[in-house]
Amino acid sequence: MAFETSKDVLDWYEKQDRTLTREFIDGLPWRSVKDTPIDEKFVPVLLYMRDVEVLTDMYHREMRRTPTGRDPVIAKFMERWGIEEITHGQVINCFLNEAGYETPDDWQKQTHKNVTAAYRANTYLLTSLTNLLGSRFTATHMAFGAIHEMSTAQAYRRMKELANHPVLSQILDGIIREEAAHTHFYWSVAKLELKKSETAQKIARKVVETFWRPVGQGSLAKKRTEYSIATLFSGDDGIDQIDRTVTQRARQLPGFDDLTKVTSRIAGICRNFRSHNAVTAVYLLLSINFYAVF
Ligand SMILES: [Fe+2]
Ligand SMILES: [Fe+2]
Repeated sequence: MAFETSKDVLDWYEKQDRTLTREFIDGLPWRSVKDTPIDEKFVPVLLYMRDVEVLTDMYHREMRRTPTGRDPVIAKFMERWGIEEITHGQVINCFLNEAGYETPDDWQKQTHKNVTAAYRANTYLLTSLTNLLGSRFTATHMAFGAIHEMSTAQAYRRMKELANHPVLSQILDGIIREEAAHTHFYWSVAKLELKKSETAQKIARKVVETFWRPVGQGSLAKKRTEYSIATLFSGDDGIDQIDRTVTQRARQLPGFDDLTKVTSRIAGICRNFRSHNAVTAVYLLLSINFYAVF
């Protein structure tokens, strides 16, 4: 579907029904979660996904300080987007609790408290710099967002395939549908904005090449990102999936032809993790028994 303005994209987004409504969540077969065991190696990954999702309110706050966050169309999208992402984290937490992994009542507060100090300082600097770029930053923000949303959706798809848990699969299907709508918004606005100027394309490409990291890297402990990526994407089929569904799609954005960044980064993490981080795997697996928000 071709949009002419970002307002058209917003109108489309607002017509999409939410999947993870109260009724949907209450109607999930919570009592049967324990009937199917979940492989423990996925628990640190689910905790990571949960924390990344609930940190969206922090990203949202930061984005409001940028030129795009002050754009009325994008600001309106972000209001609903922010709420949906937080629901994703909360539903994942409910699943973990039902599966026998209790979490403290104030887990959301703890997740925020554990955001690294370096991340806070860097973000402050970056959001301040974006103000120098003005509205030219919009294309970058939207392209970055589209790549983040596409890669997040693929992480959920991998989790669904690998964990193969019937209730978790229903939850993930709901989340994936909402992530697809987010992708479509970011993607469509990115395309419109990138088409406007070659400078915007150059800036966006440079920023993605230089700064793109898997979602959550930087704000959460590095070893958690690496463990999660390696658990979900190690092996040729995982890397191939990322390449087909994220990198090759991102190449269709104006100025992004021959991009290799996302595939190379994910493949690099998987390679390094295999050779150096067996200890991290043991540490994270032990941590879940202490319900750690580490
Ligand atoms: Fe999400
Ligand atoms: Fe999303």
